[in-house]
Amino acid sequence: MQCYLCRLMLYLKKLTITHFKNYEINSFEFPQTATGISGLNGKGKTNLLDAIYYCCFTKSYFTPTDSLNTGFGKNGFRLEAQFQQADKLYQLICINRDGRKELSLNGVVYEKLSQHIGLLPAVMVAPDDIEIITGGSINRRKYLDTILCQLDTDYMQHLMNYNKILLQRNSLLKNFNQSIQQNELLMQVLDEQLALPCKQVFEKRRAFTNELLPLIGNLYETISGTHEKIIIQYESDLIACSLEALLKKNREKDLFMQRTLSGIHKDDLSFSYLGQPFKAIASQGQRKSLLFALKLAEFELIKKYKGFSPLLLLDDVFEKLDNNRIQNLLEEVCREGGGQVFITDTHKSRLEQAFELLQVQGTIIEL
Ligand SMILES: Nc1ncnc2c1ncn2[C@@H]1O[C@H](COP(=O)(O)OP(=O)(O)O)[C@@H](O)[C@H]1O
Ligand SMILES: [Mg+2]
Repeated sequence: MQCYLCRLMLYLKKLTITHFKNYEINSFEFPQTATGISGLNGKGKTNLLDAIYYCCFTKSYFTPTDSLNTGFGKNGFRLEAQFQQADKLYQLICINRDGRKELSLNGVVYEKLSQHIGLLPAVMVAPDDIEIITGGSINRRKYLDTILCQLDTDYMQHLMNYNKILLQRNSLLKNFNQSIQQNELLMQVLDEQLALPCKQVFEKRRAFTNELLPLIGNLYETISGTHEKIIIQYESDLIACSLEALLKKNREKDLFMQRTLSGIHKDDLSFSYLGQPFKAIASQGQRKSLLFALKLAEFELIKKYKGFSPLLLLDDVFEKLDNNRIQNLLEEVCREGGGQVFITDTHKSRLEQAFELLQVQGTIIEL
């Protein structure tokens, strides 16, 4: 690993995994910027990527439930990682025991796990991510939030605040009694409290998507190797109306449905192509190209705003894209000044070929 490259990227040097999913105690070193992880199905390739992801986000990419991340029959797990970024060295230890989680950086325990988000940025691409395109709007909000939370601590605080107040409002809607004046007063207070974080999150999403969405469109053309134009739009109730007005207007409906029907928790991204919803007419290949465009745009903008590349975790991408598309994708990220990349595949030879074609120095870990 050339030292000057550390200035341009976040670099994971070493990882020790204990009792995380199928791992007992395993140490891995990553001496080069590209790491291939090969092995048969069920060997732990995805779990290894997830352990890396966990170090960056203090949670699994796949499940919010830590008991599922703990090795069967064990009472906790431990992840220990060494990262480098420019001249800064980070020694991260994450201990999860009996349902409690503790994270420390260079020997200092974090008071709140959220303080860690954004320090060690990473982008994961996993097979089920196609849901961002074909699934419900929650997938697209999660996509946006994952980027924005890493770039903007205020955004994350406002979002957490919004979600907390929204829960309170929804629980009040469930138990609302119009004859109790306190219920009415509390509702007014919650409506006011919800407005501020709502506006902040909305403004930040709007500003960010102004930059993100055209980039996704351009990357789609590069990856698909075509000039197909995809129209992508940020949709929000807040574009037309303030939250105060929306909550007032929808009060009866909210009471009837016992939940808050408008707000930034309903935001979405819409993709259209040839005047039709993209998912209705796109082929498998086009969907995959769009997914990679979304992920690459995430990568590019994190890199731009952090000033260095995030880790790129690619799970089974060869299964999903034909060679041309893979080639275009990997060229984008593996160029000098790209980032540290981890790629899993069942076939060692396919990883070796890819590294050779791209002329990147890669190490292969065989599980
Ligand atoms: N909490 C857990 N404890 C022990 N083993 C687990 C746990 N969760 C998943 N596994 C095991 O991990 C294996 C799957 O690992 P995975 O990383 O998905 O494999 P690969 O990506 O190489 O196909 C399965 O054999 C599964 O039983
Ligand atoms: Mg896997």
